[in-house]
Amino acid sequence: MKDKTSKNIKESGKLFINWVEKYFSEMDNYPVLPNAKPGDVKKQLPINPPKKSEEYEEIISDLEKIIMPGVTHWNHPKFMAYFNSSSSDPGIFAELVSAAFNTNGMLWKSNPASAELEEVALDWFRQMLGLSENFWGIIYDLASTSTMQAIVAARESLSDYSIRDKGFGGLQNKPRLRLYTSEQAHSSIEKGAIVAGIGLEGVRKIKVDENFKMIPSELQKAITEDKANGWKPFCVVATVGTTSTTSIDPVTEIAAICKSENIWLHVDAAHAGVAAIVPEMRYLLDGIEDADSFVLNPHKWMFMPIDISVLFTKHKGILKQAFSIIPDYLKTDEDDEVTNYMDYGIQLGRRFRSLKLWFVIRHYGTEGLIEIIREHLKLGQQFSKWINESSDFELLAPTPLSTICFRAIPENIKTEKEVNEFNKNLMDAINNSGKAFLSHTVLNGKFTIRVVISGIRTEEKHVKEVYEVLIDEFKKLTK
Ligand SMILES: Cc1ncc(COP(=O)(O)O)c(C=O)c1O
Repeated sequence: MKDKTSKNIKESGKLFINWVEKYFSEMDNYPVLPNAKPGDVKKQLPINPPKKSEEYEEIISDLEKIIMPGVTHWNHPKFMAYFNSSSSDPGIFAELVSAAFNTNGMLWKSNPASAELEEVALDWFRQMLGLSENFWGIIYDLASTSTMQAIVAARESLSDYSIRDKGFGGLQNKPRLRLYTSEQAHSSIEKGAIVAGIGLEGVRKIKVDENFKMIPSELQKAITEDKANGWKPFCVVATVGTTSTTSIDPVTEIAAICKSENIWLHVDAAHAGVAAIVPEMRYLLDGIEDADSFVLNPHKWMFMPIDISVLFTKHKGILKQAFSIIPDYLKTDEDDEVTNYMDYGIQLGRRFRSLKLWFVIRHYGTEGLIEIIREHLKLGQQFSKWINESSDFELLAPTPLSTICFRAIPENIKTEKEVNEFNKNLMDAINNSGKAFLSHTVLNGKFTIRVVISGIRTEEKHVKEVYEVLIDEFKKLTK
């Protein structure tokens, strides 16, 4: 078939750019959470693929009619669920260019620009975070992947295990490996442990204090106990910004334990880490210089379309030792002079994700990014104050960043079970209104509503509107 890419982009590119422009300009009018039931989208789509070519106009028309009513608008200023990932114009343009290039950055040779931009953009990012040059970075898709890679590297650092070569089946009478993380850690830590062959039994959850932070003395106790019982402690995963409450584990104290026990310390800062570019928030990374690796996701709070996750580590060599396998057909003349990123992870092929970092950092400048995140932090504190000052609500966790955990405490409802049900109904009512999207967690058995303020389009007026919706729905339910 004759290639018509250039002609088609010339003729139809505007159609899509205009469509995307309209999508953003009308964003405020969309229900944040679609009013869709399971199967609603699927039943409108033909079972069989079309035999004949279809016009872009027809595709766009179905995008509007079939897809849009089933889309949750993560880009909406009142999307305050989970941890947001909101895209910005430089992020979208970078994706467009990346798709146009369509390179596979497995080797330096397979795309020199991708390999070298990744090095430079990550070094910029390292400087923005105030990290020392001891850290080297690599881009993966998601934090789950970054953490899994870190756990495998931690495993590889045990020279007397040789699991890469022998596998676990090849170990004779060696103590089983144990990984430690807090009760509040993300499920990706356990998934990483599953993939690395540590198994769920190999993950020991450490108690948290009343502010949901890992208790270092409990960690030390667990390590000592495990050693006495024949386990081999090998990795600790601390969290800076836990998923439920954004609590910050005391990394400095945890690092001291890891150092004295000779254990790899990985820090999961998937959401909160980016906030450390704000000078007054740099304390978030206290202790990080003593960590072996840590992950943070620019796609969560740095306005890049999902996905882009960054792993920083002090042990580039161990990562390579863990993963590098170079078949003849991937050997190149430059192997000794360059970084071939395929050597540092499970995946061979790699998208040109560094374009997103480069475009976004250049477009906003470090000052612009700091200003946006600082505003989110301010708005988060404001919302937290409103909740704290209202007799109808209570905070269920501190608000160190811009994630607010709270519940309603209606006067006439007394049992915990009923309060939980009320709060679930309150959250559902807000979400069903289409005016905002909030999500939940459970803290000490209490159904907890979370408001997360980290979307690039979220302004003070949106935060006020969400508070008003909360009050309105609360009044309706208590009438
Ligand atoms: C603290 C933390 N770690 C890891 C993850 C997993 O992130 P990803 O979806 O990039 O794998 C999340 C997701 O929200 C998270 O909150």
